[in-house]
Amino acid sequence: MTAPVLVLKDSLKREFGTKVHHANIQASKSVSDILRTTLGPSSMLKMLLDAGGGIVVTNDGNAILREIDVAHPAAKSMIELSRTQDEEVGDGTTSVIVLAGELLHVAESFLEKSYHPTVICRAYNKALEDAMAVLEKIAMPIDVNDRATVLGLVKSCIATKFTSKFGDLIADLAIDATTTIGVDLGQGLREVDVKKYIKVEKVPGGQLEDSTVLKGVMFNKDVVAPGKMKRKIVNPRIILLDCPLEYKKGENQTNAELVREEDWEVLLKLEEEYIENICVQILKFKPDLVITEKGLSDLACHYFSKAGVSAIRRLRKTDNNRIAKACGAVIVNRPDELQESDVGTGAGLFEVKKIGDDFFAFIVDCKEPKACTVLLRGPSKDLLNEVERNLQDAMSVSRNIIKNPKLVPGGGATELTVSATLKQKSATIEGIEKWPYEAAAIAFEVIPRTLAQNCGVNVIRTMTALQGKVSLRTCSRYRISLSLIQFFCGTISMQMVRMLGLE
Ligand SMILES: Nc1ncnc2c1ncn2[C@@H]1O[C@H](COP(=O)(O)OP(=O)(O)OP(=O)(O)O)[C@@H](O)[C@H]1O
Ligand SMILES: [Mg+2]
Repeated sequence: MTAPVLVLKDSLKREFGTKVHHANIQASKSVSDILRTTLGPSSMLKMLLDAGGGIVVTNDGNAILREIDVAHPAAKSMIELSRTQDEEVGDGTTSVIVLAGELLHVAESFLEKSYHPTVICRAYNKALEDAMAVLEKIAMPIDVNDRATVLGLVKSCIATKFTSKFGDLIADLAIDATTTIGVDLGQGLREVDVKKYIKVEKVPGGQLEDSTVLKGVMFNKDVVAPGKMKRKIVNPRIILLDCPLEYKKGENQTNAELVREEDWEVLLKLEEEYIENICVQILKFKPDLVITEKGLSDLACHYFSKAGVSAIRRLRKTDNNRIAKACGAVIVNRPDELQESDVGTGAGLFEVKKIGDDFFAFIVDCKEPKACTVLLRGPSKDLLNEVERNLQDAMSVSRNIIKNPKLVPGGGATELTVSATLKQKSATIEGIEKWPYEAAAIAFEVIPRTLAQNCGVNVIRTMTALQGKVSLRTCSRYRISLSLIQFFCGTISMQMVRMLGLE
């Protein structure tokens, strides 16, 4: 007899079959249970301790899951799901987890009945296709040029957030920022790169109402030689560089052996001449402001301040890119190849201001800024962090609208319509896939159910009333959705519920 072949280590435990399916579903469900209470307008904020010991106060699904340290692979993939939603859409990171948890939950009973997982997956994929078709059908086109409509939309997206208490403020900031950096690609397409061209600067202190979208950019830097260089320049000519303005050092350790004393003098002179040469080349273009990503030596600083030019050094690459977009400059690597067209003349004002303990440089009043900074002010750092997260959600929604101007109603209305349509369709499906398909249809109800749970109404009664409404053939689809939205808002005012005859 041949000896047994060991593939895995002796100590390793291997699980397989239904046991693993159940364990995976349990793990995913526990992740979705964590988030369940943070869905919707009456949701709770969660307070978490982050890795650095600080606190995070938020109800943003992705932000909560990012802080949670999980070991189970299935739970990890749920977190990935939320992250992907955040990257692609920016909002809906809680909904996606709640829905995924429910879809897995309803799959469990089929596994118990010995359905093969691929059958369930096939049915789910079919349900997904049909759900997309329903969404396509009920989506209403909107006019992105109508600010009031867009404002209402963005506001409803952050109505579930902490900052909704501050009225239109955050929605206004988000719309201003995204419309500033929108670029027309022709054929009615618009590109909005929120990540690259919008920077959010949080400066603790002041009132939240002092937050603004700058018509340009700001960054946490001061001029190199404060007393000698101007801190305020109107209509500056700006040159951006990504090369050092100091004598280049060797890549590795460099040894220079000098025999005569005069050689040392020559060496120093060469260095000086090199820098002077660079500065002369730059000064030929009569800049008012020179910004470099690398270092700037004392000597270069001297030449610049003598010529009345302000200089800033060691700027971040991303900030430099934004300045280039804001004032129309081109970042240059070799000063000897500078051209007039590389000089940025689009900015109206350069100013260094002291806010709190720090100096901030502003390049603002730009003619056509294609990058901008959102300056957030507020009483504390934790609060500002949450405001920033809300603002990111709002900006993503605003970007999505500009890119694809279609709207489906919220408040669980869309999910219920999808659920009702799929339930109807399931009758026409033949074979064993019919049951998982129907279960997927029912799973969509989790969103309105959770919304109802979170705002403290009688869940069973509410759900039955809603399902009754959706199946009323006489109502136009639009009216159903509208009344559902009003119904949920009406959980605050019961008068409206009575008015709609839903009680
Ligand atoms: N005024 C409202 N009345 C009823 N439901 C609402 C209202 N505003 C939003 N909703 C619903 O709340 C849900 C969104 O909740 P929430 O914003 O907390 O989570 P999310 O968008 O899924 O995740 P994220 O944490 O990324 O924002 C959606 O289903 C939406 O339809
Ligand atoms: Mg949301």
